[in-house]
Amino acid sequence: MTVARAVRQFVLVFTLFVMAVCGFAQTPSENNEYQPREGQVGKDVMWIPTAQALAEKMLNLAQVTSQDYVIDLGSGDGRIVIAAAKRGARALGIEYNPDLVALSKRNAAREGVGDKARFIEADIFKSDFTQATVLTMFLLPELNIQLRPAILDLKPGTRIVSNYFDMGEWHADESVAVGRAEGCDTVYCQAYLWIVPAKVEGTWKLPQGELELRQSFQMISGTFRAVADRLPVADGRLSGDRISFSIGNARYTGRVIGNTMEGTVQSGGSTARWNAKRAAQ
Ligand SMILES: C[S@@+](CC[C@H](N)C(=O)[O-])C[C@H]1O[C@@H](n2cnc3c(N)ncnc32)[C@H](O)[C@@H]1O
Repeated sequence: MTVARAVRQFVLVFTLFVMAVCGFAQTPSENNEYQPREGQVGKDVMWIPTAQALAEKMLNLAQVTSQDYVIDLGSGDGRIVIAAAKRGARALGIEYNPDLVALSKRNAAREGVGDKARFIEADIFKSDFTQATVLTMFLLPELNIQLRPAILDLKPGTRIVSNYFDMGEWHADESVAVGRAEGCDTVYCQAYLWIVPAKVEGTWKLPQGELELRQSFQMISGTFRAVADRLPVADGRLSGDRISFSIGNARYTGRVIGNTMEGTVQSGGSTARWNAKRAAQ
């Protein structure tokens, strides 16, 4: 575990402890409407809201548009779902606590996005989120790791944004932070973005030879074998279905489309097309 990760976990456990000692309880507001309290117990993780400024930056990081279907895992008071719906996206919040679900529905109606923002009372570990084009979360490191296999099975290109907690060895593609001046007054003021990579590990046939690829999340390495040559694959990377790698002085970029890959290769000032087919497994 890195020092940064250990510090983050300590801060979370400490926050939990302080909140438990302070004995936060749910109290109704003046108009008797349910009001959640920061730090209240949740099924697998307590409720702490994402700072509104960070919620907006998380959606910017994922480049959410009206074409997206955003799902927030553990949606709390619905703020991320509502913010996504205000951008014209379809959005769904999955939340275990029925009071938070009811509150989210009221909040969405008040904000005029009751039609685009949906909320369901469910356990994220028993829910289907495979249709999401953007997945947001503010959970815990171990929950992110538990969800990671299902996330890696999502359609390549699906954007994942997590408030504060990372995905272990699956390093983030990008991150963002907000400051106190922007209204983030807790430690949870940064978020990470991952883009689900296509699965390319295995053998690929090119007209010129055979490509053997190994994959660790979005990073790829391997070997290219031609008649007399055996060259390493260097600087290999995936971003969704977009692939890039170097063989010798040649730089390959392209797209993975199921069991084929195609694109352009640049070498010594010239550009040509390339394509590959996955060899039978
Ligand atoms: C840290 S809060 C984040 C809320 C919201 N996503 C946000 O960013 O403002 C985590 C939320 O997950 C909910 N939760 C915890 N375990 C859950 C589970 N297994 N299924 C669904 N929701 C869960 C909690 O009730 C809480 O509202």
